[in-house]
Amino acid sequence: MAADQSNYNYKVVRQFAIMTVVWGIVGMLVGVVIAAQLVWPALNLDIPWLTYGRLRPLHTNAVIFAFGGCALFATSYYVVQRTCHVRLVSDGLAAFTFWGWQAVIVLAAITLPLGITTTKEYAELEWPIDILITVVWVVYAIVFFGTIMRRKIQHIYVANWFFAAFILAVAMLHVVNSAALPASFLKSYSAYAGVQDAMIQWWYGHNAVGFFLTAGFLGIMYYFVPKQANRPIYSYRLSVVHFWALTFTYIWAGPHHLHYTALPDWAQSLGMVFSLILLAPSWGGMINGIMTLSGAWEKLRTDPILKFLIVSISFYGMATFEGPMMSIKTVNSLSHYTDWTIGHVHAGALGWVALISIGAMYYLIPRLYGQTLYSLKLAETHFWVACLGILLYATSMWVSGITQGLMWRAVNQDGTLTYSFVESVQAMAPFYVIRFIGGALFLLGMLLMAYNLWKTVQAGSAVEAPIPKPV
Ligand code: HEM
Ligand code: HEM
Repeated sequence: MAADQSNYNYKVVRQFAIMTVVWGIVGMLVGVVIAAQLVWPALNLDIPWLTYGRLRPLHTNAVIFAFGGCALFATSYYVVQRTCHVRLVSDGLAAFTFWGWQAVIVLAAITLPLGITTTKEYAELEWPIDILITVVWVVYAIVFFGTIMRRKIQHIYVANWFFAAFILAVAMLHVVNSAALPASFLKSYSAYAGVQDAMIQWWYGHNAVGFFLTAGFLGIMYYFVPKQANRPIYSYRLSVVHFWALTFTYIWAGPHHLHYTALPDWAQSLGMVFSLILLAPSWGGMINGIMTLSGAWEKLRTDPILKFLIVSISFYGMATFEGPMMSIKTVNSLSHYTDWTIGHVHAGALGWVALISIGAMYYLIPRLYGQTLYSLKLAETHFWVACLGILLYATSMWVSGITQGLMWRAVNQDGTLTYSFVESVQAMAPFYVIRFIGGALFLLGMLLMAYNLWKTVQAGSAVEAPIPKPV
């Protein structure tokens, strides 16, 4: 049956939105399990599939690509239709991206615990899965840009620019970094060697942060914050400057992951300088997001969805202040290899990425089922539980990270090390317990959300939304 061109395609948005919640719970559950293993190592139960080294990449892949990825597909498909006043260019191709992406996730969930991995961080999946990712991504680009090309509104709203940059940059990063020589069906070797391999990997790794975990979610910010606050963006001009400055600067900052390595010194310094410059566009964007609420601050008191969105932007500001500081070589000589990095990652990942996705899902899912949210009170409880979780997670990691760094560099007067490595491991134990509690609280919040949304969906039914007629 031909698609009804007078309606938006909400089906694919609904599918991705629901899987955002499902994969969020799965990925964070694995996070809680590995956090527990760091406190009680016996929890790997002597089963190879459950060892820390295999579950850790399962966690990172599940939260970034399954949870974050589904949130980005759902919101970009929703936003591009609503702001262009057209249905997605092809229902069939959109459905392909949904099923293809779920297949990638399931294959990751099978291969990573089996120990099948390229060993490149955030790019661990073996070459047959990489090819599937490439195909799904190209189709995603066709659907997204095809829809933009058919738009009825001449202006391309700024959120779409961020989604577009995310789609294009991730395509480029994935293809270049995954280039490999297959040795068998399940084993390949990187096409690059030595320090070039490291440089390509962290060019990829840092821009996965910049474009997957940042640009796409800024697309969410620029649509959902004005919508929920019922106010225009604070400065549309600033949003355009934000876009160009951010996309230009991010791509150069990767070498800050390779300070004090065999990478040429000038490249390390270049990475540091671009990271410091990155503070400006990042904070421009943060200010633009938060100031969108000017004149409507009182809404923050009563609206838990807005709380999620605005606090996520504050964490974005915090992580993008901390990142440039950590990129300074002397600071990095303390922070690198320590839990400080893990604290920074989760201030960004839980505080920014997860909170903004949660806010967007609370906004979207009731609308996709023609309902208001089942319980605002429960969403409010979720908000506070999540904030407490992040606070415990991030602060414990900062303290443990700095403690580790200081213990490792402490030397006696005769030049010998003051502490053995195992002493530093012992000193971490209380902080790992606190992190575990923080993570468990965050997961509890996700379960509250799942219940709340489940009740909302049950009370409603899938709706279609008409596309406004051109005036
Ligand atoms: C202006 C923005 C930012 C800058 C300059 C920056 C800089 C840094 C630096 C210097 C490190 C430590 C590298 C090392 O010692 O190995 C790091 C690690 C990391 N950052 Fe950021 N950061 C920024 C924003 C963010 C945001 C918003 C997130 C989001 C979620 C994030 C996620 C990560 C991750 C995942 C790592 C760990 C990578 C790894 O070693 O596996 N960063 N960042
Ligand atoms: C309940 C929530 C979560 C818990 C308990 C949790 C726990 C953990 C743990 C224990 C690690 C390993 C740390 C280490 O090796 O020392 C880790 C790593 C990581 N997690 Fe999470 N996590 C959670 C949520 C998330 C979310 C939502 C994201 C992303 C959107 C995320 C992204 C990452 C990344 C990128 C790393 C690797 C960091 C690095 O290599 O520097 N996590 N997580």
